Amino acid sequence: MHTKTKNNNWALITGASSGFGEEFARQYAAQGHSLVLVARRKDRLESLAESLRSNYQVEVIVEGVDLSDLESVRQLHQRVQERGITIDVLINNAGYGLQGGFQDANLNDALGMVQLDIESLTAVTHLFAADMRAKGSGKILLVSSLLAHVAVESFAVYAAAKAYVLRLGEALHREMKKDGITVTTLCPGLSDTGFAAAAQMHVTPLLKLLMMKPQPVVKAGIRALNAGRISVVPGLPNKFMALFIWASPRWLHQAVFAQVMSPKPISKIQGGKAS
Ligand SMILES: NC(=O)c1ccc[n+]([C@@H]2O[C@H](COP(=O)([O-])OP(=O)(O)OC[C@H]3O[C@@H](n4cnc5c(N)ncnc54)[C@H](OP(=O)(O)O)[C@@H]3O)[C@@H](O)[C@H]2O)c1
Repeated sequence: MHTKTKNNNWALITGASSGFGEEFARQYAAQGHSLVLVARRKDRLESLAESLRSNYQVEVIVEGVDLSDLESVRQLHQRVQERGITIDVLINNAGYGLQGGFQDANLNDALGMVQLDIESLTAVTHLFAADMRAKGSGKILLVSSLLAHVAVESFAVYAAAKAYVLRLGEALHREMKKDGITVTTLCPGLSDTGFAAAAQMHVTPLLKLLMMKPQPVVKAGIRALNAGRISVVPGLPNKFMALFIWASPRWLHQAVFAQVMSPKPISKIQGGKAS
């Protein structure tokens, strides 16, 4: 059992029921932060909260919320305020992707992704940043993706949504500095969370090899946020890919990502065309 001194800083983590969000909760609890954990699967949040309370003696509040409903986002913010809590660290992490052709996807599924990854993330940031501005300090981490840097076939809507998150984060980083608020954007590559299953994604052996564990991704995000960086791409292979995207013509990196992220096994792709 760890014996951390209690830290009066509150961190609110969206998408804390699995993957990166769950790991953010563990790492912030280990630093003695009090936590508000948000996601739809309340049972998973409750058991995580129980283990964090007993391992780290921190205060943990569980909020079972469907963030794709904007009225629920407003009510979440109101409940946090009514408890007299001001959030010091906001980890805006909840999101998902869907692999597949643009026309093959159900329109509602595509719009649901846009709703959560763009609109809800914007709403959560707007509401909690207002409280941070009022007290003159705060930290916000937006979880984007390596795919924010490139247009990706079969991940068209997701990559475009994450490009929005990256651009929003970069602009807010500059804009909110004067209010004492740090905004950092985390751009992970494919990682070993619930993401691939939720995206119904074909994970090739190459992608499996490149997959990072959530621990180092989250550690890199927290380190960048504390250092006041504008954005971070965790892991050497992902940094290399970001450099390649930056240094190469669009047609080239788009073609490479189309192959690497193909929904079909590489063996079925001949002459640049999926069979
Ligand atoms: N893992 C990767 O390869 C990867 C790479 C780049 C970026 N990302 C980004 O990282 C973030 C976290 O994803 P992850 O990889 O940790 O995947 P994950 O394990 O599937 O976690 C996604 C989290 O989002 C929550 N969520 C989904 N829909 C929600 C909704 N409507 N309301 C509230 N919470 C909702 C889920 O909780 P409930 O289902 O309980 O609601 C879950 O806690 C996402 O923004 C994702 O796009 C992931």
